[in-house]
Amino acid sequence: MTAEKQLQQSEGVTERTPWKNEMSMEFDAVSLNESFARVAVAAFVAHLNPTLEELADIKTAVSEAVTNAIIHGYDNVYGYGKHGNSQPAYLIIHPGKVQLRCSLERDVLRIEVEDHGKGMENVEQAMEPLYTTKPEYDRSGMGFAFMEAFMDELEVHSEPGQGTVVRMTKKLGTYPLIEE
Ligand SMILES: Nc1ncnc2c1ncn2[C@@H]1O[C@H](COP(=O)(O)OP(=O)(O)OP(=O)(O)O)[C@@H](O)[C@H]1O
Ligand SMILES: [Mg+2]
Repeated sequence: MTAEKQLQQSEGVTERTPWKNEMSMEFDAVSLNESFARVAVAAFVAHLNPTLEELADIKTAVSEAVTNAIIHGYDNVYGYGKHGNSQPAYLIIHPGKVQLRCSLERDVLRIEVEDHGKGMENVEQAMEPLYTTKPEYDRSGMGFAFMEAFMDELEVHSEPGQGTVVRMTKKLGTYPLIEE
């Protein structure tokens, strides 16, 4: 009997549980957590042996969404006056949390990045390539365009004064572990 059949026949097991996995986490809306978030998602999918390209795509998309939550949602920006400076020249931190939820169903990865920051009036306009409300911080307005390019699906919901949820999906081409 296969492991799947055994599990299905165990008492109380009604779903094909080995094919599903979920994780969620919450962290402070500060820039140093951008790298933490993208590495956490990369680790979550690591057992599927994604290609380097898939991993890079996922990490970039997560990074863009989390950065947006931090710098736009909560207006937490920092920057360095001169290249090579070790101390930020300016640092603004408003309290706020970012939620990151991921699920895997077989090789389909779903990611949600949520903030309870200031939200957006016009999501369609915000998603246009090169549109940015922070040109003074050298933002280029390409974050949503990258998320769209690197993931299979992108959905953005936002309410002014309430916050923003970004949902992204990507099917990885690697599911060698279990045969049908
Ligand atoms: N979580 C968010 N909360 C509030 N506004 C947001 C959020 N995410 C994006 N925006 C708005 O959408 C605009 C476009 O976002 P996008 O990521 O495409 O570009 P950017 O962040 O301005 O620049 P880049 O990502 O290239 O550094 C932002 O300038 C901001 O006005
Ligand atoms: Mg951005």
